Amino acid sequence: MYKIGLVYNEPKKQSSAEKTLDPRSYRQPAIIADHIEEAFVSRSHQVKRIPASLNLLQDIQAAGELDVIFNVCTGINSKQEQANIFALLELLDIPFVGSGLITQAAALNKANANAVFAAAGVPISAFQTFFTAKDSLYSDMNFPMFVKPVHEGSALGITADSLVQNEAELRRQVSYVIQNFKQAALVEGYLPGREFSVAILGTKDPKVLPITELKIPEKYGTNVQTVDVKAENGVKRICPAEITPELTDKIAATALQAYKALQCSELARVDIKLDEKGKPNIIELNTMPALEPGYAHYPLMAEEAGYSLSDLVETLVEEAIDDWKRKKAA
Ligand SMILES: Nc1ncnc2c1ncn2[C@@H]1O[C@H](COP(=O)(O)OP(=O)(O)O)[C@@H](O)[C@H]1O
Ligand SMILES: [Mg+2]
Repeated sequence: MYKIGLVYNEPKKQSSAEKTLDPRSYRQPAIIADHIEEAFVSRSHQVKRIPASLNLLQDIQAAGELDVIFNVCTGINSKQEQANIFALLELLDIPFVGSGLITQAAALNKANANAVFAAAGVPISAFQTFFTAKDSLYSDMNFPMFVKPVHEGSALGITADSLVQNEAELRRQVSYVIQNFKQAALVEGYLPGREFSVAILGTKDPKVLPITELKIPEKYGTNVQTVDVKAENGVKRICPAEITPELTDKIAATALQAYKALQCSELARVDIKLDEKGKPNIIELNTMPALEPGYAHYPLMAEEAGYSLSDLVETLVEEAIDDWKRKKAA
C-alpha cells in the first residue's frame, strides 16, 4: 500500500473568449484526478488530494508522510507553469511521477525541444522561431511551412491557416499567433505524411506501447489536428496502427531517441509525422500526457498493451520510486 499525494487543480472559471481559444483542456486536471484517485483506491492505496496553490510545498508537507507524489496539475496561474510545479516537487525529498525540472522546461518550449533534438540527431523538420512578424526568414526554410505557438498544447493556435504556402501567409499567421497567444511563433517545415501518437512508459528501460495512427476525417478538410478537430475529439484513432513492422520499429526508435535526448522519466507521449519521404519526424514530446481514460491517447495505448488505468498508475508510481531509489544509491 502506497500513500500517494495527488496534486491537481480545481477547474478555473474562464471567460467566453478564453473558452473559444481553449475549449476543453482547462477542466482536465480535475477530471483526471478523479479517475486516478479511483484507480489507486481500487488497489487499496491511500490518496491525499492536494489542490495546487501558492502554498503547494506547505500543503504537501502538511499532508503527512507520503511515499510518492502523482502530479496532474499543469500550473497555478496559467497552464504554462508545469515546469514550475515540477521544480517545486524536486525541492521535496519525495519520489514523484514524471520528468524533472530540466526536462519539463526543455520540452515545454517547442523551439528549445527542437534545439535539443537537432543537437542529438533526432529527426525533426527545419525550424525557425519568430519573435516578431518582421523577422527575416532563414534561407534554409522551404515552403510549405507550418506555424504554431512555441509553447502551447491541445492544438491551441493550430487552425487551417497554420499551413502556409508563401511569405504573405506565413507573416499573417505568425502575427495571429504572437497577438493571440502572447508568445513567439514556431515555424517548421510542413510534414505532409501520416501522423502517429507514441506512448513511452518507463525510466531505466523505457518501452514503447502499441502505436496509434491518428486520422483526420475528411469533413475537416485538413490532415492536421486543428483546434476544431481536438475540441470535437474528431480524430480517428487506430491502435495498434496498421503499419509494417519496419515502420513500427522506425517510429518506436525515433520516439525513444527523443525521450532519451530530453532525459524523460516514467512517461511521455511523442507526436510523430512522416515527412515527404515517409521518414518519421518528431512534432513534439509531451512530458505530461493527459491520462483521462476514454479520451486521451496515452491510456488508450496503455490499455492496448494490457494496462488498465490502475495498472498504469501503479506502474508509474513503482517506476518513480525505483528511479528515486537508484538516484539515492548513486
Ligand atoms: N511541422 C508540422 N508539419 C505538419 N503538421 C504539423 C507540424 N507540427 C504540428 N503539426 C500538426 O499540428 C498538430 C498540433 O501540433 P503540436 O505541435 O502537436 O501541438 P499541440 O501541443 O497543440 O498538440 C499536430 O498534431 C499535427 O497534426
Ligand atoms: Mg501535439
